[in-house]
Amino acid sequence: MEKEKKLIVDGKRADGRGMEDLRPLSIKAGVLKRADGSALIEWGRNKVLAAAYGPREVFPKHLSNVHKAIINCRYAMAPFSSIEEHGRSGPNRRAIEIGKVAKHVFENIVLTKQFPKTQIDISMEVLQSDGGTRVAGITAASVALADAGIPMKDLVQGVSLGRVEGQLVADLDKYEDNQGEADVPLIVSLRSREILLFQQDGMLTKEELARMFEMGFKGAEAVRAVQVQALKDRYYGPHELNEDG
Ligand code: CDP
Repeated sequence: MEKEKKLIVDGKRADGRGMEDLRPLSIKAGVLKRADGSALIEWGRNKVLAAAYGPREVFPKHLSNVHKAIINCRYAMAPFSSIEEHGRSGPNRRAIEIGKVAKHVFENIVLTKQFPKTQIDISMEVLQSDGGTRVAGITAASVALADAGIPMKDLVQGVSLGRVEGQLVADLDKYEDNQGEADVPLIVSLRSREILLFQQDGMLTKEELARMFEMGFKGAEAVRAVQVQALKDRYYGPHELNEDG
C-alpha cells in the first residue's frame, strides 16, 4: 500500500521529534466548577477534558455494592474533535471499549473499599484528537480524581508506543497511529511498576514489547511530573477558580 508521506526521515519523525520524544504536554487541574474534580490535558494536538464526581449515592440503588464504590467511566469524542466521522454523537463501539478499559484501570487504583455503597463517575470528553486520546484521557482523569480528593494508590499515567517504519516510537500522533505497523497504549503506576492497561494493535516481537515497556515507564516519569505540577498549581498557586468557588 502506498503511504501518504514518509514518517521518519534522517532519524527524525515528521514533526521533528526523536523516537522517544513526547509531544508538548500541559495539564490544568480544577477547570470545572460543578465537578468535584477536573483536569484539562493538552498533549500535542489532543485536548481532553476529564471530570470526576463522587463518591456519591448510587443510582439506581440496586447497582450499589456493599463492599466498595463502583466506578463508571465515560469516554466521548465531541463531534468537532476530528476531521472525520463524528457528525453523529453518542457512544460507538470504540467509545464504549475505551470507557470500559478506563474503568478497569481506576478499579485497580482507587481505594474503592473505603466507600462502600457509593459510585464514582469519571468523564473523559475529547475536544480535539490527534492520536493517543485514551492515554491522554486516563492521564487527565487521574488528575481529576486527585483534584476531587478521592484516595488512590497512585496517580497513573499513559503513554502510547508503536512501531513506525521499523522503528519503535513513543507518543504516536494520528498519522503514525494510522499508518504505523503497530501501536500499544500503555497505562502504568510508577509506584508499583505495574502495567494497568495494555492494548496492542499489530504484530510485535517479545523483544520489541519489552523495549516498549521500558520506553513507556520512562515516558510516564515525564508525564507524572506534569500531573504533579498541575495539582500543586491548583492547591498552592494562584488559581482563578479559587476566588469565588
Ligand atoms: O486516540 P487513541 O489513539 O486512543 O485511539 P485510536 O482508536 O487508536 O485512534 C487514533 C486517532 O484516530 C484518534 O486519536 C483520533 O484522532 C482518530 N480517530 C477519529 O478521529 N475518529 C475515530 N472514530 C477513531 C479515531
